[in-house]
Amino acid sequence: MTRHFLIDTDLTQAEQTQILDLALELKHAPYSRDTYAGLDDHGASTAGRKTVAVIFDKTSTRTRVSFATGIADLGGVPLIIGAGESQLGHKESITDTARVLERMVSTIVWRTYAQKGLEEMAAASKVPVINALSDDYHPCQLLADLLTIREHKGTLAGLTLAYLGDAANNMANSYLLAGVTAGMHVRVAGPAGHLPRQSVIDLATARAAETGGSVLVTTDPGTALVSADVVATDTWISMGQEPDSADAKDATYELFSSYGVDGAAMAQAAPDAVVLHCLPAYRGYEIAADVIDGPQSVVWDEAENRLHAQKALMVWLMDRR
Ligand code: CP
Ligand code: NVA
Repeated sequence: MTRHFLIDTDLTQAEQTQILDLALELKHAPYSRDTYAGLDDHGASTAGRKTVAVIFDKTSTRTRVSFATGIADLGGVPLIIGAGESQLGHKESITDTARVLERMVSTIVWRTYAQKGLEEMAAASKVPVINALSDDYHPCQLLADLLTIREHKGTLAGLTLAYLGDAANNMANSYLLAGVTAGMHVRVAGPAGHLPRQSVIDLATARAAETGGSVLVTTDPGTALVSADVVATDTWISMGQEPDSADAKDATYELFSSYGVDGAAMAQAAPDAVVLHCLPAYRGYEIAADVIDGPQSVVWDEAENRLHAQKALMVWLMDRR
């Protein structure tokens, strides 16, 4: 049966580990898999190269380039469809779009707003659908983040990750769900009104009970940070949530001002803590320049790992078709 990757918990802990193992393998041997090349075991051409549709309803640098490069590395053809370039969403329903795409492409990757849209696409598609960021989750980013933590810390289970900032956004939700799936202790801190919704906390808590991880949600950044092995943050203003005036923007910055990852925050984490940011970053707001550009930052490895993690994910999903 076709597997999709719409939310972090679509993978069990064992499956997540398989994908991270494969990602490391592909990082060291980037062209060792011909998943989309249409070659048989002896390298003979069979069905021809396969196409992967990568659809963007929101802007992107990393996701766009890493999927395009990854699909090419795997022998396939990336078909990048920018915002407003297809009939999807205005002239044609998600279901009808899925029915057409599944006849022509081997995987559908989609960055969009509503998680419900991704669920509708997956329900109508016989080919795997991958969430390339929605308002609710960014699961591909988390595969890259976990790979980066594993490379720098040697392990995942048992580590403590502190996320500071907009704890109601897609990254906070995915840190909770993917982190506990890996057996980590995930603490998220944000101001009241910007904390994860109860259904996400419940899902994370249930998964944590299976893996030995744990969940902590707080408005106090210090409670999240104490002795953390990994410190993570993200923009205070996500795509699609831009304030409609300069005053509203200033009010947002003010609301989040005590949740920035700066030197004082890092002093509360473990001395060898690593810092993650999915990027793009706003220096002087959610992260200080001397932190993101300093020795504890692993954000450039994290960005590169989007490529390796997503290649592994695509191979893994195609192996299960
Ligand atoms: N981190 C991330 O998804 O970056 P882009 O928005 O540039 O794709
Ligand atoms: N929370 C951010 C992540 C960007 C990769 C956003 O949705 O804009």
